[in-house]
Amino acid sequence: MSDPKRVALLPGDGIGPEVAEAAVELCATAFPGRLEFESHLFGGCSIDENGTAMTDETLAACRESDAVLLAAVGGPKWDTTDPDQPRPEQGLLGLRKGLGLFANLRPVRAIPALTDASPLRPEVIEGTDLLVVRELTGGIYFGEKTRTDDRASDDCVYTREEIERIGRVAFEAAGSKVTSVDKANVLETSRLWREVIVGLHESEYPGIELEHVLVDNAAMQLVSNPSSFEVIVTENMFGDILSDEAAMITGSIGMLPSASLGNPDGPGLFEPVHGSAPDIAGQGIANPLAMFLSVALMFRHGFGWTEEAAALESAVDGALADGLRTPDLGGQAGTVEATQAVIERLG
Ligand code: NAD
Ligand code: IPM
Ligand code: MN
Repeated sequence: MSDPKRVALLPGDGIGPEVAEAAVELCATAFPGRLEFESHLFGGCSIDENGTAMTDETLAACRESDAVLLAAVGGPKWDTTDPDQPRPEQGLLGLRKGLGLFANLRPVRAIPALTDASPLRPEVIEGTDLLVVRELTGGIYFGEKTRTDDRASDDCVYTREEIERIGRVAFEAAGSKVTSVDKANVLETSRLWREVIVGLHESEYPGIELEHVLVDNAAMQLVSNPSSFEVIVTENMFGDILSDEAAMITGSIGMLPSASLGNPDGPGLFEPVHGSAPDIAGQGIANPLAMFLSVALMFRHGFGWTEEAAALESAVDGALADGLRTPDLGGQAGTVEATQAVIERLG
């Protein structure tokens, strides 16, 4: 058998360590000898220990790994409005930028067994299978910030090159349709975005249908007609907001995985879309399924293990079909019980 894949594990804060432990347990039991985890402090716990959310050593260890698996960072302990204080989220942004991961893939699928868990009507969500392609290293997240006592600003910048490369990821992922979401009726960055996406479509992907939807309208259509979307491509902050909204098609934010890619010479980053859920941390009731589905994305996109990825995804589906429900999905199962249910399904 080939050498085990070396995974840099960043459990982080809040429920992060709980779902990270579940993922390690699942991999050790269902895929023995295939992965080697090395854990690093990251986020709030790293601020406590090192004064910064991500040390140079941790970034270097991530760079050297075959993949990075992150659970979640942040929490009230480190919440501050003081721009000079470190924040856990800086680690996450620094890691994405530092690894050159500009393409964040967030698949959203209406799982038949979970139809009753979504606040949306079954006939609305039925058949939904969409992919949010979120630009991850540009826009307002990374522009210049200013702050005085009475004035603050966040600069939103996009270049043609940044838009073109994320557009290409979206067209490559699409079978027949791409929806580009922007705010071209107001924002200059969105007008450049639209121009570049149109140009890319005409020159390289004329066989794929392209539609443009303004972000406010897209937010509305995600809950009124989600199955009309196939691939949504959008800028950093719009993608952040729309993907949390889209999570409710599955019934819980605790179900949504993500893969961050874009650097062919380095590792990808795989993480649930949800945060550290401080309101339920330490109770053993966090839903680990978004983390497991992120492991499946790591198998597929990080290692090319398509069969293992599919097996893990169908084990999650199967456990849900058998009635597995954590509290966020309206049930009583704890993290350990949910983990065992998926492991059992993997045989
Ligand atoms: P959150 O996603 O942590 O929680 C939102 C709600 O969803 C909460 O009620 C929580 O209990 C629930 N929830 C989330 N994940 C769940 C799971 N796996 N199982 C069951 N319920 C779950 O969002 P928030 O409360 O806005 O943010 C909390 C902290 O997390 C903040 O500091 C934020 O910056 C951070 N955050 C981190 C990441 C990340 O590390 N990738 C992502 C989002 C938010
Ligand atoms: C996410 C999170 C992060 C983001 C935060 C924690 C920086 O919300 O991964 O969706 O906004 O990208
Ligand atoms: Mn988010």
